[in-house]
Amino acid sequence: MTSTPNAIPEILTHVDAGVMTITINRLDKKNSITSAMYGAMADALAAAHEDNSVRAVVIQGHESIFSAGNDISDFLNKPPSTREAPVFRFMRGISSFAKPVVAAVCGPAVGIGTTMLLHCDLVYAGDNAAFSMPFVNLGLCPELASSLLLPQLMGYPRAAEALLLGEPFMAETALELGLINRIVPPTEVNALAQRQAQKLAAKPLSALIETKRLMKKGNASVLSERIAEENASFGRLLQSPASREAFTAFIEKRKPDFSKC
Ligand code: COA
Repeated sequence: MTSTPNAIPEILTHVDAGVMTITINRLDKKNSITSAMYGAMADALAAAHEDNSVRAVVIQGHESIFSAGNDISDFLNKPPSTREAPVFRFMRGISSFAKPVVAAVCGPAVGIGTTMLLHCDLVYAGDNAAFSMPFVNLGLCPELASSLLLPQLMGYPRAAEALLLGEPFMAETALELGLINRIVPPTEVNALAQRQAQKLAAKPLSALIETKRLMKKGNASVLSERIAEENASFGRLLQSPASREAFTAFIEKRKPDFSKC
């Protein structure tokens, strides 16, 4: 087993038997993702792409939490400003990643914690998994092509419920909506993801890559266009009074007051 050089304590990566495992590891802040963590994940995906010995990737969090989404202090203090911002590099990396990606999700998967799953090939969840995309509640709009992929996956009415109300839904609903592949006890999710990734790693890589490319082909051209459009809107909304109020309220541990927004 080898660790990859780009690892930071909050993003652990290692390669074992053809599988690169990326672990989100910032438990004290509920695995919320900072700019540095997006950078490390983008670097890990780039390394996995380059390394011919890596044939599949697993993304996992902790048994109690997958990710609370973007770090809210970063939203306030360090919003992404250029195309090369780490969050955008991560979005490009995962949405165009050619090899198979398996996700293991337990506990809350908030914001990008859920939208990144739309770009994974196999998603296994603990029965404690809770998915949510509270962008509107934060004065924001969807990202990572979720405004395109969710209606395609689950139909407009259910996507509208997920994105406009932004309420959490549990693993059973996610399975019914087609967002995940299987539900198991939280203690078994990471091991199941590893087993499935090992199965993939034993298959011919060129056939895996071509099959994934063909399945995704219909969306390929519109995907990056949609991500760019969402990012432009998201960047504008990040400066809005509504999002400022939402983030300040979160940090001050109070309910936001949108009556003037
Ligand atoms: N960004 C920064 N810090 C975060 C965070 C985030 N997205 N989510 C949680 N944290 C921090 C909290 O501020 C708290 O820090 P503190 O101990 O220094 O006060 C710590 O993580 C624990 O969070 P807490 O809310 O007490 O945990 P919980 O178990 O009650 O709830 C969540 C877990 C994930 C449901 C809840 O933290 C949450 O809703 N987070 C915000 C999610 C969000 O809106 N993300 C943005 C999506 S675009």
